Amino acid sequence: GTDEQEAAFYAIVDSDGRIEPRDAMPEAYRKTLIRQMAQHAHSEIIGMQPEGNWISRAPSLRRKAILLAKVQDEAGHGLYLYAAAETLGVSRDHLLELLHTHQQKYSSIFNYPTLTWADVGAIGWLVDGAAITNQVPLTRCSYGPYARAMVRICKEESFHQRQGFEALLTLTRGSARQKAMAQDALDRWWYPSLAMFGPPDRESTHSDQSMRWGIKRFGNDELRQRFVDMTAPQADVLGLTIPDPDLRWNDERGHYDFTQPDFDELFRVISGDGPCNRQRMEHRVAAHTEGAWVREAAAAYAAKRAKRAEA
Ligand code: ACO
Repeated sequence: GTDEQEAAFYAIVDSDGRIEPRDAMPEAYRKTLIRQMAQHAHSEIIGMQPEGNWISRAPSLRRKAILLAKVQDEAGHGLYLYAAAETLGVSRDHLLELLHTHQQKYSSIFNYPTLTWADVGAIGWLVDGAAITNQVPLTRCSYGPYARAMVRICKEESFHQRQGFEALLTLTRGSARQKAMAQDALDRWWYPSLAMFGPPDRESTHSDQSMRWGIKRFGNDELRQRFVDMTAPQADVLGLTIPDPDLRWNDERGHYDFTQPDFDELFRVISGDGPCNRQRMEHRVAAHTEGAWVREAAAAYAAKRAKRAEA
């Protein structure tokens, strides 16, 4: 772009305005957005798998209906995000191709297994809770289509978070075995949830630049702290113990002190070596291949309707 275009871009970003698809933007800004939005979209659709695992085994018809709706919401989030990414000049087919060939990532969290029904509650409470903490600031992202997609996604995530909390509350008020199941789920999901926020700021590749561009509004560490501050009192309400002996309120800081997650584990999981990476990708590619006829039928139907509208 020209110097003039660059000045116009920074004038919008610096005055907290929104960059729209037709505005000139630095190539690196466009690339960063495609990376983050695609990774986010991929996370939504891969995220259907761990919970989808429990749809056929939900403990009641009511729980099953809620879980079905929730998993469908995740598919919808993926669709909004792919559509928003397409405004940057990339196609959904291409982004899926990059996912399937390991050239783009999805969130580390979805590489952990869902071993019991309590895991469905823990995912809602912790994983969706972390997602909201990270995504509410993204409603103010400098790129208009991403920011607007986030508004609706956050409303739905907040319902997801409450349903997870409520499902766990039911278990913790149940039998000793049910309570133990809830505690076990918290023990396994706590640190992976903290790791969702990404590496510490000092090891984060993109944070400084993304914050300068108004894509990210806060660093990874600040959002992780916010999540702990929000979640610790909720664990008390549930009567569950967060698996961190050093977790305690620090009056001076006005925050909870806590133990950081194992970032070596995060990097291992990101690079493909988590408990379920292979299974998740195999399932995704198989679903895509087996779903080809649905895409073909939908395209044929759309073409037929367009022809009829023409006549
Ligand atoms: N899982 C997978 N990859 C991650 C994770 C994670 N939890 N955290 C960081 N990374 C990757 C980054 O993509 C980046 O990869 P690259 O260097 O190959 O490009 C690398 O680790 C270094 O991290 P950062 O420089 O800090 O990356 P970034 O500035 O993109 O921050 C973050 C990471 C916070 C996840 C950001 O991308 C973001 O806010 N994304 C949107 C939210 C999102 O994707 N949520 C998905 C899960 S929530 C849900 O779907 C329910």
